[in-house]
Amino acid sequence: MKMNGHAVQPAQTLRRDPDGFLNRSVKDLFSLDGRTVVITGGARGIGLAFAFAVAESGGHVAVLDVSEEPHPHFNELPKRVPKQKFKTYKTDVTKYELLQKSIDQVVGDFGRIDGLVTAAGICPDQPFLERKPESVARCFDINVLGTYYAAQLVAEQMNRQEPTEHVPRGGSIVFMASVAAYVASKGQNTSDYCASKGAVVSLCKALGVELAPAGIRVNSISPGYTMTDMTLDLCDRMPHLGHIMTMEPPMRRMADRTDLKGLVVYLLSDASAYQTSEDTLVTGGIHAGRLL
Ligand SMILES: NC(=O)c1ccc[n+]([C@@H]2O[C@H](COP(=O)([O-])OP(=O)(O)OC[C@H]3O[C@@H](n4cnc5c(N)ncnc54)[C@H](O)[C@@H]3O)[C@@H](O)[C@H]2O)c1
Repeated sequence: MKMNGHAVQPAQTLRRDPDGFLNRSVKDLFSLDGRTVVITGGARGIGLAFAFAVAESGGHVAVLDVSEEPHPHFNELPKRVPKQKFKTYKTDVTKYELLQKSIDQVVGDFGRIDGLVTAAGICPDQPFLERKPESVARCFDINVLGTYYAAQLVAEQMNRQEPTEHVPRGGSIVFMASVAAYVASKGQNTSDYCASKGAVVSLCKALGVELAPAGIRVNSISPGYTMTDMTLDLCDRMPHLGHIMTMEPPMRRMADRTDLKGLVVYLLSDASAYQTSEDTLVTGGIHAGRLL
C-alpha cells in the first residue's frame, strides 16, 4: 500500500537499543542548522519573534506577508545573526496562485523548505448578529484557507526534496491556533475567529496523520493573550480589554512573545521528532480556569 507516494511499512526494525539517546545531545536536537523555515505573517507580531527564534537556532528564514514592509525589528536580524539568510516576500495567503509563486521563489532562493509556521491571521471583533458575510468569509479565508494553502504548497515541496546531512526526510509544520479554539474570549465578540481557530486545530490533527508516512509532522500552538500589535491595537480601541487580558489569566499577565520562542524551535526541530497532530496551549493557565 502507498500513501502520498510513500510505501506504508514500519519505519523501524525492532531491535534493542536502550542507549540510542546517548548519540544526540539536547543542544543538537534543538538545532535548526542548515534548515530553511517559511513564516507566513512574519513581518510583525508573533511571526516576527519566531523569525528571531529560528535564526538564533541556526535556521534561515523566509517571511511571507501581505504588508509592504516588515517591522523595523526585521532589519536587526542580519546584524544579530549574520551567518543566516533572510528574505521577505510580499504575498497573500488567501490567493493560491500568488502564494504558489512566492513558495517557488523561496525554493529558488533558498534551495529547499524544511519548516513552515503559519502566523498570518486576523481577529475581527464584532457582535455575531452584526457580522456581514464578506467579513466572516475574509476571516476564514486568511485564518483557515491561508493555513490550508500554505501547508499544502510547502508539504508538496517537502515531499519532493531529499534529506541532507542536517535534515531528515520530510519536515515540520507549525500552525498558529489560539486558546479561542477552546473558550470564548471575555469582553470580545469573536465568533468567526474562534471558529476559524477550531478549524486550524482540527486541520492539524488530520494532516499530522495523513502526512506522517512522508515524514512531515504537523503541530499547532494555541497562545492566550499575547502582547503584539494585534492585541495592542484592540486594547487601544477598547481600553477595558487591557485590564481583562492582564487580570484574567491565573498568572496575571499577558504573554510576551519570548514565552513562545522556545516552543516553536522545539516543534520545528528534531527535539519533537515523535510529536505530531498535537496542539500546545500557552496561556498562563487561562484554558484551565480564570481568576476573574
Ligand atoms: N496576539 C495574540 O494574543 C494571539 C493569541 C492567540 C493566537 N494568535 C494568533 O497568532 C497569529 C499572529 O498573531 P499576531 O498577534 O502576531 O498578529 P499581527 O497582526 O501582529 O501579525 C499578523 C501578520 O499577518 C499578516 N497577514 C494578515 N493577513 C495576511 C494575508 N492575507 N497574507 C499574508 N499575511 C497576512 C499581517 O500583515 C501581519 O504581519 C495569528 O494567527 C493570531 O490569530 C495571536
